[in-house]
Amino acid sequence: MDIVVAVYENWGIGLNGSQPVVVKADRRHFREVTGTGTVILGRKTLEDFPGGKPLKGRRNIILTRDAEFTVEGGEVVHSVDEAVRAVEGEDPDQVFVIGGESVYRQLMPYCRRAFVTKIYDEPPADAFFPDLDELEEWHAADTGPVMTEEDIKYQFITYERKE
Ligand SMILES: NC(=O)c1ccc[n+]([C@@H]2O[C@H](COP(=O)([O-])OP(=O)(O)OC[C@H]3O[C@@H](n4cnc5c(N)ncnc54)[C@H](OP(=O)(O)O)[C@@H]3O)[C@@H](O)[C@H]2O)c1
Repeated sequence: MDIVVAVYENWGIGLNGSQPVVVKADRRHFREVTGTGTVILGRKTLEDFPGGKPLKGRRNIILTRDAEFTVEGGEVVHSVDEAVRAVEGEDPDQVFVIGGESVYRQLMPYCRRAFVTKIYDEPPADAFFPDLDELEEWHAADTGPVMTEEDIKYQFITYERKE
């Protein structure tokens, strides 16, 4: 499985349950990368989606410790093990961990690639992604050009786990 994440310059990813600075091109990129695959996400990230609804056209696996929680259009799991078991047999290139912080950190050991959108801005953040440039076992395998949208610079970088 792979990670899809948008990070700010300090690897911040969110504030008060949401993303403080959004780049439209990143949202398009997210849709292209995740395609019709499976997404794994935390219950708090689901809350931030429009209407709190799972993403259409994809299998949505939502992590919560709440035994009563259900959501139309999503499958609910209650542990990392259960999430991993739920995607066994799927093409690993079509399974994407899409946040938030707690889910990224717990599922990172199972991930081989991270599709990172680097947004060159540094808004206040209370949720962070590990700085992949500092982690020995990860490297930037593909670095796209720096682009600009409404004065905000951004860049798509694919990180891979070293062999
Ligand atoms: N920049 C990006 O690309 C990006 C992407 C996604 C999210 N975000 C940001 O990340 C922030 C949210 O991150 P977060 O860490 O607070 O929340 P989160 O990871 O989205 O969700 C946390 C919730 O997931 C459930 N959970 C986590 N681990 C679990 C486990 N092992 N077993 C069962 N359930 C588990 C729990 O739900 P219950 O409380 O229901 O038990 C927990 O409260 C927001 O600011 C959001 O905007 C950013």
